Amino acid sequence: MEKQIASLHLVSAFLAMEPTDCVMSHARSLGGGSVTVDVQRFIWDHCISKAIGKCHAPYLKIFLKKLILEIESNRDDVLDELYELYSEFMISLKVGSGVGLVGICLSHVKASKVILSDGGLSTLSNMKLNLKMNQISTEDDEPVTSECLDSFDHAQIGGMRTEIDIISLPHVKCLHLPWECASESVLQKLKPDIILGADVIYDPLCLPHLVRVLSILLDKTKSSSQLPRVGFDGAIGCSHDCSNGCGARDVAAACDSAGSASPAEHPTAYISSVIRNANTFDRFLALVDEANLAITDLTGTLPPASLLPYMQSYDRSSIRLFKLSSK
Ligand SMILES: C[S@@+](CC[C@H](N)C(=O)[O-])C[C@H]1O[C@@H](n2cnc3c(N)ncnc32)[C@H](O)[C@@H]1O
Repeated sequence: MEKQIASLHLVSAFLAMEPTDCVMSHARSLGGGSVTVDVQRFIWDHCISKAIGKCHAPYLKIFLKKLILEIESNRDDVLDELYELYSEFMISLKVGSGVGLVGICLSHVKASKVILSDGGLSTLSNMKLNLKMNQISTEDDEPVTSECLDSFDHAQIGGMRTEIDIISLPHVKCLHLPWECASESVLQKLKPDIILGADVIYDPLCLPHLVRVLSILLDKTKSSSQLPRVGFDGAIGCSHDCSNGCGARDVAAACDSAGSASPAEHPTAYISSVIRNANTFDRFLALVDEANLAITDLTGTLPPASLLPYMQSYDRSSIRLFKLSSK
């Protein structure tokens, strides 16, 4: 009888959109003090799965986040369904995306809001081709022709760009984002929940710019509306075309089409890297420290999955994974 009442209170509080702390307290009561797997299943079946597409999405996002955090902090297992649904609310931004493989993978696991960025215009163009080859495309996309590729290259050389920076694809947006000239206001408009980077710590000249970009993206205390708009910084040691880097309008378009409505809470960056040069990596760590960012080495706890197991030449043991957040 007690359980029935606790279940009824839980469902009713959720439907009434009570503050999420209150809903969580009903969930704990139902589980006898903690949000057990059975309680999670009950919440999924009777609250969340029925609310998808019908309830106020920001409320559902906040509730999911609170639920997952509480379960994780008790070191209990989280239902896959909860993680999967939460990932659909998150905006992932990849810096230095290269060929776009991560975007392709994320879109396959139904991550709904993915922004792939890179500072190279020809890299972006190649990325778009790769996305198209993986059926990640929209009917509106202009076909990418060799002419188009040429114009990207010419644009880079001549400093005159004729192509737009944002290429709309379902689930995945491509964004021209050279770290050297990405302005604070532009970065703040992106509001990612998760920032990803792979093999981006190798050029000492670029590192200050990369860390500056990360620290702005990770700073959740500032919102774009509170901050003065600043122009593009001068490019020092810039290896990427800043002549017509990402504009605020382009970023706003990327965010709008990615469905970004509310500011990210506690954004986190995950950077994987092979440490080829210890000095370069130490420089990165020093810059991270100066920027007042927290960095944790997750390599021991989250070793790389054995993707592409046939590639024996690929030495996974040298890959490190770091988590960064604002202190
Ligand atoms: C070694 S590749 C890694 C690509 C991809 N993340 C991967 O793991 O396959 C480094 C990428 O970072 C990009 N990059 C390097 N310097 C950059 C900068 N200053 N601004 C933006 N992107 C940059 C390059 O264009 C390139 O795509």
